[in-house]
Amino acid sequence: MDLYIDTANLDEIKEAHDMGVLDGVTTNPSLIAKEGVDYTKRLKEICDVVDGPVSAEVIATDFDGMMKEGREAAKIAPNIVVKLPSTVAGLKACKAFSDEGVRTNLTLCFQPLQALMVAKAGAFLVSPFVGRLDDIGAEGMDLIRQIRVIYDNYGFETKILTASIRHTMHMVDAALAGSDVATVPFSVIKSMMNHPLTSSGLEKFVADYKKAFG
Ligand code: E4P
Repeated sequence: MDLYIDTANLDEIKEAHDMGVLDGVTTNPSLIAKEGVDYTKRLKEICDVVDGPVSAEVIATDFDGMMKEGREAAKIAPNIVVKLPSTVAGLKACKAFSDEGVRTNLTLCFQPLQALMVAKAGAFLVSPFVGRLDDIGAEGMDLIRQIRVIYDNYGFETKILTASIRHTMHMVDAALAGSDVATVPFSVIKSMMNHPLTSSGLEKFVADYKKAFG
């Protein structure tokens, strides 16, 4: 399972990269707005740190605008993946980019047929948002399970990127459901190596050793 970080914060990206297990980065307009930085400049900085796929989301919602912004973003670095919304215009742009050999990430996926359609259009990644589905009383992880079955039934190569992850159980369930990738906030990445018995066990090992040998 690949692990991406879901942030535009450079310090978080560097720290996660230093853990040695980071495979990529996802950004979105809200995350960039939170940082208050120039989108292109920040994407360049991220691509200097991370070799794996870095998703750059378009702001345009029409086909021509998406193609223009996506082509500009793709020039930033070879590992840029153009992030497009799961709409009809996004689907058309996905097919056009796929025909041009540009990788895409189809975001804001909330139902299995969006995932089926974007896979047919050659998406490199599809981003189903589990947390936002949970927020409205649905079972977000069911969407990951449904997409896994559909993609396996037809041999689609589009990778399932579980997004909108809010806590470690989302990660466990995404891994059990066979998600190819998860994009995870830094706070959750940090807690993925935590267990109170690890901390207390380590404390006791060190204390016992010091007691015996000084
Ligand atoms: C994914 O690409 C999105 O950036 C992200 O996972 C959205 O998460 P949120 O629902 O916590 O905003």
